[in-house]
Amino acid sequence: MSADKPWAGRFTQATDPRVEIFTESVSFDQRLAPHDIRGSVAHATMLGRCGVLTADEASTIVSGLERIAEQIGAGKFQWDTALEDVHMNIERRLTEQVGEVGKKLHTARSRNDQVATDLRLFMRDAIDETGAALDRLSETLLDLAEREADTIFPGHTHMQVAQPISFGHHMLAWREMIQRDAERFADARRRTNRMPLGAAALAGTPHPIDRHITAELLGFDGVCENSLDAVSDRDFAIEYCSCASLLLVHLSRMCEELVLWTSAAFGLIELPDAFCTGSSIMPQKKNPDIAELVRGKSARVIGSLQTLLVLMKGQPLAYNRDNQEDKEPLFDSVDTVLACLRVFTPMVAALVVRKDRALAAAAQGFATATDLADYLVMRGVPFRDAHAVVGRCVRRATDAGCDLADLPLTDLQAESDVIADDVYAVLTVEGSVAARDHIGGTAPNQVRAAIARARSDV
Ligand code: ARG
Repeated sequence: MSADKPWAGRFTQATDPRVEIFTESVSFDQRLAPHDIRGSVAHATMLGRCGVLTADEASTIVSGLERIAEQIGAGKFQWDTALEDVHMNIERRLTEQVGEVGKKLHTARSRNDQVATDLRLFMRDAIDETGAALDRLSETLLDLAEREADTIFPGHTHMQVAQPISFGHHMLAWREMIQRDAERFADARRRTNRMPLGAAALAGTPHPIDRHITAELLGFDGVCENSLDAVSDRDFAIEYCSCASLLLVHLSRMCEELVLWTSAAFGLIELPDAFCTGSSIMPQKKNPDIAELVRGKSARVIGSLQTLLVLMKGQPLAYNRDNQEDKEPLFDSVDTVLACLRVFTPMVAALVVRKDRALAAAAQGFATATDLADYLVMRGVPFRDAHAVVGRCVRRATDAGCDLADLPLTDLQAESDVIADDVYAVLTVEGSVAARDHIGGTAPNQVRAAIARARSDV
């Protein structure tokens, strides 16, 4: 209530304090201040170049804005909720500092195109930061895959041990998921990086502006082509949250695997102490809380996507105040994505595979039975018949309480006379893994080839 509203002219009553509290956004949108000032500097510069402002007026405004940016950076700016939002706070301060000329900054502009521009600048930075963090994770996974290309690990389907694989291959599967996420963010950036300024409230402006000058000053690839659309849609923000939700679904799945693999029942990997926490009652516990929290945080990012979709679905063109509600879920999504990547990447980089346990788990449950069937097929037995033969071999091994590789040759030959003593090579887990030697397969050779391709792509 300390300041007159810039829009007070047609009002006869002061704003009810409850309304002031209800409508203000400066408590959270002050985060947009650097982008707001950048946008205003470019806008004033353009107005100066187009003769809407004199060169002197433009440069006074620009240096005033730069001083405000410094004050905000130094924490010396007093935000006033009576001035509603970040835009009116900065504009009012400008006029206090540079005098009457400050009142000209809002020429040919509205808060509607202003806030849409601020958000797009914010999102562009967020996408770039997210992309850099994803690149670091991708490199970490490639390094890990290289280190563990020859490490035998159990591959699962239905959560049952299915076939032995290379642990490096599993890490490359994660890396594929992350790579697609990075591509999605990069693609969203193209649509985000367009400039709304010039749309003004909704219809454009009668002043002789040049939107291309402003767009170039702000590093936009182009201008939003339609003024109504420019101020009303937040699909670029929804796209970020959509890409972020998919990313968090991926991280959550990876974390679920880490939680399982570190459990005593699996005992397949060890996470570094620095990335685990203990129990306040059970002294022996070492818990994978970081992985669980990342899994948990996926919920809020998915929730924010939902919030933004529902926020948008009922809105007629053009700008509506509903859109003020986009900021908190959006900021929270960006912060959550970056926070998750900041801990997930170093945690994964430092994981240790318990190779003896992984090898034993990979061999359990007749994991090379398919290899025996493939062996028979390569000797002319139709696959369906081979499947039946191997089924009978598995039954023999189950009865004898041993693994397929422990059955005497005579037992195997009793089921099929094409079996010779070279069969034992395919019944080992190492042989099974090495045999899947084609692009996309788990053979360590192929893991190394995939790493080389990935590294030459970037
Ligand atoms: N605080 C508003 C928002 O976040 C800025 C735009 C306000 N425009 C208006 N016509 N009231 O969307």
